[in-house]
Amino acid sequence: MGALLEGPLLWYLNRGTGLTLLVLLSLTTALGVLAMGGRPAGDGGARVPRFVSQSLHRNIAVVSVLALVVHVVTAVLDTYVDIRWWQAVVPWGSAYAPMWTGLGALALDVVVVVVLTSLLRHRIGRRGWRAVHVTAWVGWATGLAHAIGMGTDLQPGSWTWWALAPTAAAAIVVLGALLARLQGRRPHHEAAVPLLARTTDTDTRSLEVLR
Ligand code: HEM
Repeated sequence: MGALLEGPLLWYLNRGTGLTLLVLLSLTTALGVLAMGGRPAGDGGARVPRFVSQSLHRNIAVVSVLALVVHVVTAVLDTYVDIRWWQAVVPWGSAYAPMWTGLGALALDVVVVVVLTSLLRHRIGRRGWRAVHVTAWVGWATGLAHAIGMGTDLQPGSWTWWALAPTAAAAIVVLGALLARLQGRRPHHEAAVPLLARTTDTDTRSLEVLR
């Protein structure tokens, strides 16, 4: 048991689950952005039906929580780094990389609150739930900052392609989803203008024929 806690196995598990977690949380965030915004499929809006993105969003969120549990347990059990149980939830006071560990703890807190309020959604009402749910952005951003600041495989001197590529892809997917959602709103608004113009043209022509 002692060898397990002191050897590199926990560290490998921690790094592996950290990256898995970042990718899953980013997918969850991107799917949430797409599922909550824009128009329903068939209205010239989302290409992926909303119920598909919503159920994927939920299922990936559940797997993310499992990865988060393993990531935290391995960080705390690993005797090479001095991180106590409470420091995984309280965002300050860690002796090891205080700022980056604190950001990880903050991300964890946000994830926990977002998941719990989602489970209690029918009790707290849609407005309250949504007000809390938007803080998922803070969770995603602080999780990303924690990873960039703390990950062995993401540091200038020791970075690896297998860590850098998924981290960059994760950020691009989330920002891409945000852009797609903002764009999805614009045409809806703009499309109304040419449609009105077309209607007016046709109406005018119809009136001319009648005359
Ligand atoms: C949503 C929350 C979190 C996310 C998304 C996340 C993600 C990550 C990622 C991607 C890495 C980099 C792995 C690598 O490339 O080496 C990492 C490293 C690390 N994380 Fe987290 N983490 C989170 C929360 C936490 C918490 C709460 C703790 C414990 C307090 C923690 C402890 C660590 C440690 C010790 C490392 C350094 C591993 C190394 O030496 O490379 N993380 N995390």
